[in-house]
Amino acid sequence: MSTYTIDTATSRATPQPAPMKRLTAPAILARKGKEPIVALTAYTMRTAQLLDPHCDFLLVGDSLGQVIYGLPSTIPVSLEMMCAHGAAVVRGSWHALVCVDMPFGSYEESPAQAFRNAARVLKETGAAAVKLEGGEAMAETVAFLVRRGIPVIGHVGLTPQAVNTLGGYRARGRDDAEAAKVMADAKAVADAGCFALVIEGVMEEIAADVTRAVACPTIGIGASAQCDGQILVTEDMMGMFERTPRFVKRYGDLAGEIGKAAEAYAAEVKARTFPTEDQIYRPK
Ligand code: KIV
Repeated sequence: MSTYTIDTATSRATPQPAPMKRLTAPAILARKGKEPIVALTAYTMRTAQLLDPHCDFLLVGDSLGQVIYGLPSTIPVSLEMMCAHGAAVVRGSWHALVCVDMPFGSYEESPAQAFRNAARVLKETGAAAVKLEGGEAMAETVAFLVRRGIPVIGHVGLTPQAVNTLGGYRARGRDDAEAAKVMADAKAVADAGCFALVIEGVMEEIAADVTRAVACPTIGIGASAQCDGQILVTEDMMGMFERTPRFVKRYGDLAGEIGKAAEAYAAEVKARTFPTEDQIYRPK
């Protein structure tokens, strides 16, 4: 476990002791079938600092639309939002690879559009990879980016940016046709050169089958313990929300802790018992 001091001149967090070198895309790829890969989402510098010692990669997910901005879906998330949060997460981390989600509308039009925007993400944030949603339809784009020096994480199964065509967020692969489509999507983007593949919201057997079928590590969310790694939205697993999807396990009660702290503060302000001598300034 590292502790951090902030260099006020550069805003960079300096960990003590200095951690190992930051993980790279080839290092993550080499973990296929080996030690499970630990990943969480991060959107801010301080959260990145706290998660970094425990994670192999931090995903600046476009889920920040709902989690940070209160948007109804990931559709309205912009490239500017992703760049701002991506840069903050890079500043707060040293050890984990940082991957930034390409938001809806920033990559689907053509491989050239995807390259232009992904290059901007890497330049403006310092992140080492991008993630984009989609299977067979995105394989050409993935290959185009990888051949030009942009490491890509794929994302198949339940793809939240397709909420309007899927008609909601239900788990995928309940019938044979859907299961075959998830497998074809996974193979297409893995063969196109992804160094990892997120499989979200699919029947457990499909995630296990895909994990056996593709050469890159699979990262499950609502998928299977057989995947090569797991990812969750940090605010979900830390207990920031009352309601979470079935696949989320809560490892903390941040909402409860924040509520308790705010309640205690409000009570002390009203009783004029805060601030005390310890928190006020007097002339020496
Ligand atoms: O946007 C996101 O947070 C994600 C993960 C949950 C996989 O894509």
